[in-house]
Amino acid sequence: MKQMDEKAKLLIDAYNRFGTAAVCLGEHDMALGLDRLLELAKELKFPLLCANMTLKDGTRPFGGSTIVDSQGRKVLLVGAIQIPNERFIGKHCPDAQFTDPYEAIKKEIDQSRGKFDLCVVLGHIDRRDVDRLAAEVPGIDVIVEPHSHDRTEITWITEDIKTGLHEGTVLLKPSGQGSEFARADLWFRSQGQKWHDIWDEETPAGSNVADLSVAALAPHIGRHPQMEMLVQAFVRSTRYQKSSDEALEFSPVPHFLGATTCAGCHPQQAAFWKGTSHADAYQTLVETGDQFRYDCMPCHVTGYGETFIDAHEPGRWKDVQCESCHGNNPRHPVQPKAFPWDKVDADRCWACHNPAETRVEFDPAVAMPKIACPPLKRN
Ligand code: HEC
Ligand code: HEC
Ligand code: HEC
Ligand code: HEC
Repeated sequence: MKQMDEKAKLLIDAYNRFGTAAVCLGEHDMALGLDRLLELAKELKFPLLCANMTLKDGTRPFGGSTIVDSQGRKVLLVGAIQIPNERFIGKHCPDAQFTDPYEAIKKEIDQSRGKFDLCVVLGHIDRRDVDRLAAEVPGIDVIVEPHSHDRTEITWITEDIKTGLHEGTVLLKPSGQGSEFARADLWFRSQGQKWHDIWDEETPAGSNVADLSVAALAPHIGRHPQMEMLVQAFVRSTRYQKSSDEALEFSPVPHFLGATTCAGCHPQQAAFWKGTSHADAYQTLVETGDQFRYDCMPCHVTGYGETFIDAHEPGRWKDVQCESCHGNNPRHPVQPKAFPWDKVDADRCWACHNPAETRVEFDPAVAMPKIACPPLKRN
């Protein structure tokens, strides 16, 4: 809880410094509890939007839209959220009620007709609603939707489509928990017209044009020094906090033994492994200050999600240990002959050396000999 609170404060501080115009409420924000959320929202220099949330007493804790001025144009920003899971709401915000986000967004826009030049929807909504809004509600210029994801849970650099045009509406789909930004530079010429790609030869002269791009904030890209200071202050403030909430709900699976256990009987192979960078994979995250990011964890530790989940407590599961490659075989130490291991399969490697998420081109035939431990001396 402490960690979540500190993180919320960090985000508020950062958003305020960015000069953010509005933010749409996200599902996870509600895990703070409604009272705390409202208290924190007072620190925001911009509105937190949610058009489809009401309380049991009928009041609306957040506005549904706001109009900001941008270079002489009036931009309507509307925000709504997909109806969250009942159990989640029951647990964190029992007073809250949600209506259909599509209807709420449509209504909000209809009420402001005539008062804006451009309309941007910030939707923590699903893909179906995005498509319906683009196709059926006139006047929407841009939809920002970071919610729907279709591949793994490890979300940095996983989506192929981050920007696009749909029915003449600009779609932005920033992904990766802040590791990437989707960007749209817009040349607005007339209201209610479709948007076209600035780089498309077929784009008619004089139409609304958009230049769409993605800015990656992957580990090796430079950081903004002031933002870096905020992040470091956050890391320090929560470093020794254990999240008791998570600890209570998580029970580790017992089939991982850990490198120290194996090293007791296989000192040669353990010493070889120590010499590979797999044995320093966690330190690598420490060096870039990313050791508390659960989007980085899975490939730089052993059995994340099964051995531990609290990003602050990797304990003895730091680094890419033996079982990341050899697999699980918990009864092996008791009867090594009766419980042998399979040969290490290259499929193990692809789990982390995933071309969609890493930089170095990976070829098992070249890589395998570099990390294969020396054979056992058998009599
Ligand atoms: C749990 C994730 C994970 C698995 C599984 C994994 N690796 Fe790696 N590998 C990494 C990470 C992370 C690094 C970078 C470590 C660093 O520099 O901090 C790395 C680095 C490497 C390197 C370059 C460093 C060196 O010491 O030469 C090679 C080669 C390599 N891995 C081969 C493999 C092969 C082959 C497999 C499959 C048998 C494999 N890896 C399985 C995560 C993994
Ligand atoms: C899907 C698995 C995966 C995830 C998730 C992952 N890494 Fe890595 N990381 C690797 C592998 C594999 C390597 C070895 C070099 C390579 O293949 O690009 C590596 C290498 C590195 C290196 C050293 C080599 C280099 O490229 O400079 C750094 C630093 C690093 N990772 C940081 C991070 C950070 C920060 C995150 C979270 C934003 C992260 N990693 C998330 C798999 C992963
Ligand atoms: C109590 C001692 C002991 C521990 C602990 C132990 N091993 Fe072994 N291991 C052995 C013996 C003995 C053999 C040789 C079995 C044989 O001769 O067939 C062996 C064989 C192996 C082999 C060769 C393939 C095979 O199955 O014959 C691999 C790979 C291996 N161990 C990996 C591991 C890993 C990984 C761990 C930790 C998760 C581990 N061992 C823990 C005693 C141990
Ligand atoms: C990056 C992947 C990787 C990691 C991590 C790793 N190994 Fe290996 N290991 C291999 C490969 C590949 C071989 C070659 C034989 C095979 O395919 O099983 C091998 C071979 C072995 C062998 C000899 C098997 C035999 O048949 O002679 C033992 C024992 C072993 N490893 C133990 C360990 C122990 C103990 C650790 C951790 C301290 C460890 N390995 C970490 C990939 C790995």
